[in-house]
Amino acid sequence: MFNSLIAMPADPILGLLTQYREDTHPQKVDLGVGVYKDPAGNTPILNCVKKAEKFRLETETTKVYIGPTGSPLFNTLMTQLAFGSDHSAIIANRIRTVSTPGGTGALRVAGDFIKRCNPNAVLWVSDPTWANHTGLFEAAGITVKTYPYYDYDSKSLKFDEMLAALSQVSPDDVVLFHACCHNPSGMDLTTEQWDKVVALTKEQGFTPLIDMAYQGFGDGVDIDAYGVRKMAAAVDNMILCSSCSKNFGLYRERIGSCSVIAKDANTANIAQSVLLYVVRCLYSMPPAHGAAIVETILGSKELTQEWLDELKVMRDRINGNRAILVEKLKANGVERDFSFIARQKGMFSFLGVNPEQVARLQKEFSIYMVGSSRISIAGISEDNVDYLAKSIAKVL
Ligand code: LMR
Repeated sequence: MFNSLIAMPADPILGLLTQYREDTHPQKVDLGVGVYKDPAGNTPILNCVKKAEKFRLETETTKVYIGPTGSPLFNTLMTQLAFGSDHSAIIANRIRTVSTPGGTGALRVAGDFIKRCNPNAVLWVSDPTWANHTGLFEAAGITVKTYPYYDYDSKSLKFDEMLAALSQVSPDDVVLFHACCHNPSGMDLTTEQWDKVVALTKEQGFTPLIDMAYQGFGDGVDIDAYGVRKMAAAVDNMILCSSCSKNFGLYRERIGSCSVIAKDANTANIAQSVLLYVVRCLYSMPPAHGAAIVETILGSKELTQEWLDELKVMRDRINGNRAILVEKLKANGVERDFSFIARQKGMFSFLGVNPEQVARLQKEFSIYMVGSSRISIAGISEDNVDYLAKSIAKVL
């Protein structure tokens, strides 16, 4: 049976991890997978996470099953974090949240949920979008199409084209938006643009699915959720997928959440029953450890403050890296304008070099980035930025 298999290519993002680890170049630079790195190139465990883990270790009394929803406390706290605790949709009891194995698990749950709402729904994603979005939703049997988003030449949003495309989307379809820190382009909607997108979504009647994998990495946890909150207040139906991988640094623990917002509490209950059915068929129940950490942090005033402070350190470092890279490229005689990198947000930007140049950077200089020239800004440090800028200057 296995003899008919055809080998699949390595994942365009995760495949880089192995290549980078095997590279013995002393100056190798990892700008591949979106993980935070400190100035020494490590991805540390946050202090608030260490404290929460210690507390759980001392107080946890059982590992018995929780159930397909995951921890109810985690779900409540994640809902409040995303929407703000006084959001009208929370007060109206319109939101149902389940814990999921990472943000990817949340997206896959959303995919199967959408398939049950409307087997013929088309999912519209931004061009470009996270490399895994398409495969993930196609695996759930959904047709994926794109709407215009990023202009590679002007390094800005194709906002008018985006609106024009969305005004053609059927009310039976779903449109995926990135809440903040657009992956891969770093180009976010402004609040005014969100207002227009929300108004159009309401008018057009399609269902918005918002992917919030980087809450707190753009401008702060509340500002980054602007679009999520505005949208949930305006529309009857919405889906939100959140991740705790980056903002809590819980990558390998695989914890995130999927929230469904319905028009009223009764419809939300029905939607939740479908969510639970979908979860049971996909993986039965989510892992509990990451949720236990997050609920311990968000359930404590002191730990929440410590988390917000640690998140700010990560956010500021990434923004600082953006500025340093632009400056060092200039200092190394690069004439091309890279100032857009400093204006973009979150973990990623496109460097804007061609595939041959990406390949040369990897082969000749051991600098790793996704083939599209997406760079993970967190991989830049004071130690490697000179080497990086010089190498880019050489391939340009
Ligand atoms: C990324 O885009 O690099 C991250 O979201 C990690 C992943 O799973 O692809």
